[in-house]
Amino acid sequence: MKIVSQIKEPINQEMELFEKKFYESMSSKVALLNRITYYIVNRKGKQMRPMFVFLTAKLLNNGEVNERTYRGASVIELIHTATLVHDDVVDDSNKRRGFFSVNALWKNKIAVLVGDYLLSKGLLLSIDNGDFDLLRIISVAVREMSEGELLQIEKARRLDITEEVYYDIIRQKTATLIAACCSLGACSVKPDSPDVETFRKFGELIGMAFQIKDDLFDYGEERIGKPTGIDIKEQKMTLPLIYVLNKCSKTEKKWLINSIKNYNKDKKRVKEVISFVKDNGGLEYAVKKMLAYKEEALALLDTYPDSEYKSSLVLMVNYVVDRKK
Ligand code: IPE
Ligand code: IPE
Ligand code: MG
Ligand code: MG
Repeated sequence: MKIVSQIKEPINQEMELFEKKFYESMSSKVALLNRITYYIVNRKGKQMRPMFVFLTAKLLNNGEVNERTYRGASVIELIHTATLVHDDVVDDSNKRRGFFSVNALWKNKIAVLVGDYLLSKGLLLSIDNGDFDLLRIISVAVREMSEGELLQIEKARRLDITEEVYYDIIRQKTATLIAACCSLGACSVKPDSPDVETFRKFGELIGMAFQIKDDLFDYGEERIGKPTGIDIKEQKMTLPLIYVLNKCSKTEKKWLINSIKNYNKDKKRVKEVISFVKDNGGLEYAVKKMLAYKEEALALLDTYPDSEYKSSLVLMVNYVVDRKK
């Protein structure tokens, strides 16, 4: 069986019902919005975030989920989708999930508004149902994500990022949302238990590994459904490059910074930078760090009794670092 089907096996029913609810949660009276949300749901992503929500809830609650769990999963996927629509505007990226991005088809103006719409739909889904504990978890994640993206832009302008700041950025822009998935899954079934914090931490660690993996994709040539090689073009300095910058000679460092600052749109030069990073162990270093986060996450699951949900979560953690897209 394919690994993803294996992971989903204990949550198949929930995921099926989720997809319906998720689509319904986007509906609008405005025809243009409906056309765009229809376009979006027909190009669905890996749906890893709702999977984390359901697996965590079921692991902690003897295989039972409730309406709060479903709403939580929808809110998270709505917010995730909103962020991707906005992120492609920010990163000037024209591809997403193997197709044109919303900004590529409908222009930035519309993409910004659609992102806002999806975000507000998510928040309202919680508010209308009185899920205020879940809403807090989600709102913190939304704030952190915006701060993370802005911190990234600030660092891209100054080109003075350190490894520590890189971890701060990815914690904020990506890991907090995956942390929110797991803490929300826990909170939906066991609102006051210490498991909520344990699973927040678990999600955060996986989220770190998740973004390092995503940043590694950018150095590859595989078809992942979105552009590769655009991080340097956007002056986004990620772990492989940061590591190499810190260990190369002064002249090499000068050349690297100059390339990113003044030749970031020069395809040949960007290729040279990518090769330099590869030749100097940048990718290996990032892989090592990613695997360390993965191990730390797995260790947190040790104290929980074995179950099919736990096995799926373990598979999921491995999938985060082994995935092909
Ligand atoms: C992409 O997330 C954005 C990042 C945080 C790197 P995913 O890789 O989960 O995107 P989809 O939903 O599967 O397209
Ligand atoms: C993802 O960062 C961050 C968020 C979506 C908040 P990236 O810009 O690397 O994500 P992709 O590669 O476009 O999916
Ligand atoms: Mg992007
Ligand atoms: Mg990326």
